[in-house]
Amino acid sequence: MAFNRRNRLKDGNSSNSGLKRALLLVLVSVSAVLALTFLLKQRIKLGSIPSSSSPSYTSVGIEDDSILVQLDPSFKPELPKQNDLSLSLEERNRLPPRNTDLFPSLAKDHIKIVLYVHNRPKYLDIVVKSLSQVDGIGETLLIVSHDGYFPEMDKIIQGIRFCQVKQIYAPYSPHLFPYSFPGVSPGDCRDKDNPLEKNCRGNTDQYGNHRSPRIVSLKHHWWWMMNTVWDGLPEMHNFNGHILFIEEDHFILPNAYRNLQLLVELKPKKCPQCYAANLAPSDVKSRGEGWESLIAERMGNIGYTFNRTMWRKIHAKAKEFCNFDEYNWDITMWSTVYPSFGTPVYTLRGSRSSAVHFGKCGLHQGQDAASACVDDGELKFQVEEADRVCNINPDWSVHFFQRQSGYQAGFKGWGGWGDERDRRLCLSFAYIYHQHHSHQ
Ligand SMILES: *[C@@H]1O[C@H](CO)[C@@H](O)[C@H](O)[C@H]1NC(C)=O
Repeated sequence: MAFNRRNRLKDGNSSNSGLKRALLLVLVSVSAVLALTFLLKQRIKLGSIPSSSSPSYTSVGIEDDSILVQLDPSFKPELPKQNDLSLSLEERNRLPPRNTDLFPSLAKDHIKIVLYVHNRPKYLDIVVKSLSQVDGIGETLLIVSHDGYFPEMDKIIQGIRFCQVKQIYAPYSPHLFPYSFPGVSPGDCRDKDNPLEKNCRGNTDQYGNHRSPRIVSLKHHWWWMMNTVWDGLPEMHNFNGHILFIEEDHFILPNAYRNLQLLVELKPKKCPQCYAANLAPSDVKSRGEGWESLIAERMGNIGYTFNRTMWRKIHAKAKEFCNFDEYNWDITMWSTVYPSFGTPVYTLRGSRSSAVHFGKCGLHQGQDAASACVDDGELKFQVEEADRVCNINPDWSVHFFQRQSGYQAGFKGWGGWGDERDRRLCLSFAYIYHQHHSHQ
């Protein structure tokens, strides 16, 4: 819309300059331009903001026209009707951070941390203990985003005393809706049901399977969380720094925060083409090379860290993200969103990881010493001296890994994301903080 307006104005001005000598014609064209501008402004208002009251996007101070240009004004966001649990959790999302008595202010150049979780309390307990040992953690705000409401998970987060904490709950998580969309609703097709034979509702994915709420919940949560932390929370108002994203099965080493601060500081100078910084290699099985150099490589999904500039680029690709038939958020990013940026999306990291993915012992973990796994609620993993203090040297040069293997443009997706309702809900999340929405 704004592009449209600027172009039209430019056309008006150039026709203007060709008619300098005739005062009458100048007056006519000036008033024509004014009339046109007025009309276009009216159209912009009507087109992008259906409701007459003030839109919620102003609440976080986003008055950037470019956002409205990226969003399709003809798309009508729709959100499912909320039940009592969903409404009460949304209410809790508005509570201010806790522990402000212990940590009254955040450090000037802090990196915020977002931990997104589902329901593995034994894992979360380990992650929270690891965070409590991180040097500098008291300088920042930890935002915990919950997919579903699970009292045990809640209790672990409420026990945190080592930094400011804010909890948010995805109010449209399939886990909150046992009898209706985005959960399972009566009349939904299942598995490979034929909608005509069974008289059921739903679209299949490219492999002929119907939606499963359990499977789609993760991608919905990730997208809701991204939109909410960047564009919805008052705590993010005027925040132009970086956010670190971690999950409930990422052990965070004590030097993670100080390493990350250094990486973020070095990034513009050492790797201007890097969009992000990472705590760990993109190969989740690797703990790093141990070289005396920084590494630039493809985006990984452990401890990725970026600022609002990157978020705006991602948000602009909402349609690509939401319409791709792939239920994993990260594979969706690698296969559609990052390739659509037009340039390789590098991330900067140290050559020894500061975060480690863990799982249940004996299942996916190899026998090598570097891997971490949980047995009986205990993590089998040793924190070494080199992981306690910042182990990145600002004088190191950057080693680039090019043409790495992994998911990329052209991959068709693993499916699981074929239902129009999921795509619509996903796309609606991109609009909730930018304009008013209607309820189903
Ligand atoms: C984000 O970081 C990049 C450098 O990596 C910088 O060019 C950009 O201005 C930053 N964005 C904001 C909003 O500060």
